[in-house]
Order: sequence, then structure tokens, then C-alpha cells
Amino acid sequence: MKRDFTKLLDISAEECRYLLKRAAFIKQARKIGTPHKPLAEKTLAMIFEKASTRTRASFEIGITELGGHALVTNAAESQMGRGEPLCDTARVLSRYVHAIMIRTFAQETVDELARWSTVPVINGLTDLYHPCQVLCDLFTIEEIKGPIDGLKIAYVGDGNNMANSWIEASILLGFSLSVATPDGYRPDRALLERAKSNPKFALTNDPREAVEGVDVINTDVWVSMGMEQEKEDRQKAFASYCIDDALLGLAEKDAIVLHCLPAYRNQEITDVVFERFQDVIFSQAENRLHGQKALLEWIMTEELWKA
Ligand code: CP
Ligand code: NVA
Repeated sequence: MKRDFTKLLDISAEECRYLLKRAAFIKQARKIGTPHKPLAEKTLAMIFEKASTRTRASFEIGITELGGHALVTNAAESQMGRGEPLCDTARVLSRYVHAIMIRTFAQETVDELARWSTVPVINGLTDLYHPCQVLCDLFTIEEIKGPIDGLKIAYVGDGNNMANSWIEASILLGFSLSVATPDGYRPDRALLERAKSNPKFALTNDPREAVEGVDVINTDVWVSMGMEQEKEDRQKAFASYCIDDALLGLAEKDAIVLHCLPAYRNQEITDVVFERFQDVIFSQAENRLHGQKALLEWIMTEELWKA
């Protein structure tokens, strides 16, 4: 059976740990120049209905380095923009390519694509989730700080796709996660219900409470793609959620700050804090490449589907 990665909870904890280990191997192989091309002659279709720098570059370079090829398209340049049904697009692409990555608005679009495709579908970001980012961020955290089981993680800011995927990761792996969002901008309600299964999960509207004694602070933009009309209201609502030195001072002394990027200086993070952690943050961006190569290799390996 083919596997999809529409959200983090599509994979098991064991599979997630395998991918993190494999990402480290793939990163090392690239560093020492060992060719690793298990996906020769395979094509990944990439559909972008929202802008992207990292996701596009890391997936396109990733599939190329694995020996395969990327086909990049979007609604405006294809018949999707003229109303061709998704169920037909899915079945057509499935006859040409070996996996489809999509970045779009509604999670239902990814779910529908996965339902009709006979090849794996990967969620490259929706309004609800950003699973590839958080999978790779788990890799970055373990690379710098060791096993996530022993760490305290915080997420401060909008209860958006990043917050939701962090919550999914904490449900999957059972690590300690505290999330701080303003009351009107909470993460997905159904997911918060599910998160009750993890006794180490906490939600608050106080960013200081969330970062107290943590090892890792995550943040993200206050105005996600598609929310631009809410910009003014959001800037007011989030004003006390900026990662600055005062907030950072409440975390562990050797705490690190992650940002999935793009970053808006002196909004969700001060320029000073951003630059202090720039090496971590750009390693985080780099690790999209290694983590997603592990994902592509795994999901596009037909032996897995037959199991
Ligand atoms: N972090 C992230 O997904 O970046 P892009 O929007 O540039 O792909
Ligand atoms: N929450 C952001 C993430 C960007 C990578 C957005 O959806 O725009």
C-alpha cells in the first residue's frame, strides 16, 4: 500500500525515529561526498499554490541529489486553475510521477489529492499543518541537543500550521511541549483535544509561562500566507509574544531558538535574538534538505508499499 505524509500523525513513532536517523546518515553521506542515488529515474511532482523559498529549493535539490527529477507546477500554469477536478489531476499525475508534493491552502485539498493518487502525497504546507518542517526541526533539535525525550520544547506565537504540527509531533513522540498563543489565536481545537493524551503538553496564553525552563523555543510569523488582511489586528494581538532577551532569560541558560523562516525582525523575534541564533536557524533551514531526502527515499521506495 502506498503511504502519504499529509500530516505528522500519518507516520508511527517508530517510522519517525527511523526518518530522523536516516536524515543523519544522508547528511553525513553528502558531507563526505558519497553518492546516494536510490531514486534514479523517479520523478516528484511539486504543486505550489503558495509562495516558497526553502520548501521548493530543498525538495527540488533533494530529489535531484537522490538521482531523480522534479516537475514543478501550480494552479495558474496548469488546467487546475481552469477548473480541472483534483480527482482527475491526481489520477493523471499518478500515471507520470512517483510522488506528489503539494503546498496549498485547505488541508482538504491535500487529503483529496491523497485519496485519488496512486502515488504518495506529501504535504508541503497547508493552513492547518507544516509536517515536513517539523519533521526536519526534530532532526535539528536532536542534532544540537540530543534525544528529544529528555528536552522541554516551547512554541510561542500564532496557533497556526507550525503550532499544529508541533502538537502532532508531541502526541506522536510524547515529549514535553508548552504552547503559548493569544486566546483568539489558539491551535486547532480537535488537535488540542487529542493532545490531552500527552500529559507533558500544556497550552497557555502567557509566553513567560511557556518558556520557563525550556531547552528550545520555537516561533513563527504572526501573519501566515493567506492571512494578510488580518495583519493589523494580529500585530496588536501578538505584541507581547515577541522572542526577546527578557523572554529568553526565562528559558534554560543554553536554550536555543528556532524559526522556520521567513522571519520578520522585531515582530515575532528581535533582530538581536535572531542574529544570536542565526547559525542554529540556518542549520534548521539546511536540514530541510537532509530530512526531506530521508522522507522521499522512504516514501518513494516501492518495497514499502508492498509491505
Ligand atoms: N519554512 C518554509 O517552509 O519556508 P518556505 O515558505 O520558504 O518554503
Ligand atoms: N506559518 C507560516 C509558515 C511559513 C513557512 C505560513 O503559513 O505562512
